[in-house]
Order: sequence, then structure tokens, then C-alpha cells
Amino acid sequence: MPIQWFPGHMNVTKKAIIERIKEIDVVIELLDARLPGSSANPMLAELTGNRRKLKVLNKQDLADPARTEAWLAWYRAQSDTGAIALDAGETAPAQRLIKACRELAPHRGGMDKPLRVMICGIPNVGKSTLMNTLVGKKAAKTGDEAGVTRIEQRINLASDFYLFDTPGMLWPKITVEKSGYHLAASGAVGRNAYEDEDAALELLASIKGSYAHLLAARFKLDDVDAIPTTHDEVLLETIGRKRGAVMSGGRINITKAAEVVLHDFRAGILGRITLETPEQFEAWWAEGQAIEEARRLAKEARSKAKKGSRQAAQEEAWLAQDEDDESADADAEVDANSGEAGQGPSADH
Ligand code: G4P
Repeated sequence: MPIQWFPGHMNVTKKAIIERIKEIDVVIELLDARLPGSSANPMLAELTGNRRKLKVLNKQDLADPARTEAWLAWYRAQSDTGAIALDAGETAPAQRLIKACRELAPHRGGMDKPLRVMICGIPNVGKSTLMNTLVGKKAAKTGDEAGVTRIEQRINLASDFYLFDTPGMLWPKITVEKSGYHLAASGAVGRNAYEDEDAALELLASIKGSYAHLLAARFKLDDVDAIPTTHDEVLLETIGRKRGAVMSGGRINITKAAEVVLHDFRAGILGRITLETPEQFEAWWAEGQAIEEARRLAKEARSKAKKGSRQAAQEEAWLAQDEDDESADADAEVDANSGEAGQGPSADH
């Protein structure tokens, strides 16, 4: 079943971004390095328009280093876009962040033209952890500014470098179904939005090809070469059996097996895994857009048809009315004529 969620404070955050964006030089988007495409908020792209962007692939310690490099190169090839990878273990991330932002906006700097940066990201991507590191080590927290939406917080990373924080924000409509599952696997989506079993099966489908060796090592699966072609349900059952998720009568406890797979992925116990490559994500995105467009056209056609049938019914009603009027007129004429016929000649003659 596709994942559905309620994006919480989305409207408040959206308003705060719209209010602030006019005077922002660089937008930092914090992404989960394990799912960079899926953790990018498409609504943010709309809200921030053609501002310079810094993509920060966070939690790189959990991601596949080769794929992180591929994603960084992919982002850097986009116009006005920089990209760096970070993790919570980095002791002084501020310097790299500041440097990357300054490179994107060399026209800003100095007390009279401070560089104004906004940081955004989906929930659970590690923004609080990063902000705490930044605030604790390098920055003075200034709190709310007069006239600025209360939820927004500004910290000064340097005397001419202001960083505006925004709350984590998900978007209301998932156009890429796979992204919904990747977000669920990462822990970004509330647990009531999906079934663990569905999320675990999709996770296995995404990783059994490229990371069969990690699954084999963690769950002591014998035939690593067979893993990529093993059916997801069978794989989940095998993992459940290996991990002792067995109920009375020998049946596998699939819910427990799913929890194990999700937990091991989230905690990085499975190994360093990235769920998607830029090429895969591009293809899913295009597919999602095509489905959305087909939906839009179908809706348009339905509403046109509805309008058309309403109009046809209206025209029919008018026609029927005209016909009624005409026949009433004709009757009246006949009556009038027959009256004349009855009275006229006989009366006259
Ligand atoms: P948020 O503000 O964006 O919602 O995320 P937050 O900082 O609360 O981080 C969400 C979880 O991700 C936390 O784990 C945090 O420790 C972990 N995390 C953040 N950055 C990194 C990173 O670079 N690498 C790794 N491996 N983990 C990271 P938690 O289990 O929810 O809480 P905690 O018990 O660890 O604090």
C-alpha cells in the first residue's frame, strides 16, 4: 500500500520560508546521504526558486562512499549548486559549511553585506544534531528577531555569516512511490503512515542487488549469488528464520523479521548502504511526473466530460422546454383557429 502521511507543521514552515527567502543568498538543503533524491523536498525547490543552493549529504557515515561521491558530482553539475558530505562525527563542520557557502556567493561578505543562509531539511535528517554542533562550538545563538516568524532561529556562524534555521518539513504528496518507502526505511516518516512489513520488503528490493554481500554477512545467508534474484517475501522469511523470529508451529513472525531488517538498516548495522543512485532517482522522478501528468489529464477530461454532460443535459432541457413551448403555441394556435373556424364563417355567414 502506498505511504501516506500528514505533514504536520508544513504550512507554518512554508510561510516562514516564503517570508525569509527574499533576503537569503544561499539555501542549504540537508539531505540523508542514504537517500539523497528521496530526502529532497520538491516543495522546497518551488519555494526557493533560483537561489544558490548547497546540498549537504548528512549521515555520510551510514552511506555507501562510492554512491555519495556520485551524488556529490551529480549535484555539483547543476547550476548555482554546491554539494558536500557531512556526518555527526565531524568535529568542526562549520568551517566546511561556511567555505562552501562563500564559494557560492562570493559577492557577499563583510559586516555591511553579511552572507545570509537558510538551512532546511526533512525531519530526522540530523538537523538538530548539526545545529547543536554549530551552536555549541562556533556560533552565538541570537534567538528570534523582531518581525521574524517565531519558529525561525538565527545563529551567527561568523560576524558576517548568518544562518537561519527552519523546522523539519515533509511535503504532502508523494509523486515517487519508491521515495515514500525509502523515507520510511530511513525513519523520516511517522510509523503510523506505513506497515513495517511493506517498508522492509521494499527495502530488501532496493538493496538485494547491490548489497547482497552485506545481507549475506549480517544474516548468515548461505548463497550470496542467489540473493539478488530471491523473491523479497522469501528473503524476509529466510531472515526471520535465521534470526529466530519463529512462532509456535514453526511459522515465521514476519512482523518481527521486518522490524529486524528496518532496525539493522537504520542503525547502520547492515553496513554502509545508499538506497538510490542519481540515475535511478531521475528515472523514478520522470515516471512519477508522467503518472502525475496522466492523472491531471484524466481529471481534466473527467471534469470536461462532466461539464459537457451537464451542458448537454441543460441544452436538452432547453430543447425540451422549447418543444413544450412550441407545442403549447401550436395548441393555442389550433385552439384559436378552431375557435375562429367555429365562430367566424358560421357566425359571419
Ligand atoms: P532532525 O533534527 O533533523 O529531526 O534530526 P536529529 O538531529 O534529531 O537526528 C535524528 C537522528 O539521526 C538521531 O538519532 C541522531 O543521533 C542521528 N544522526 C544525526 N546526524 C547523524 C549522522 O551524521 N550520522 C549518524 N549515524 N546519525 C546521525 P536518534 O537515534 O533518533 O537519536 P539519538 O538517540 O542518537 O540522539
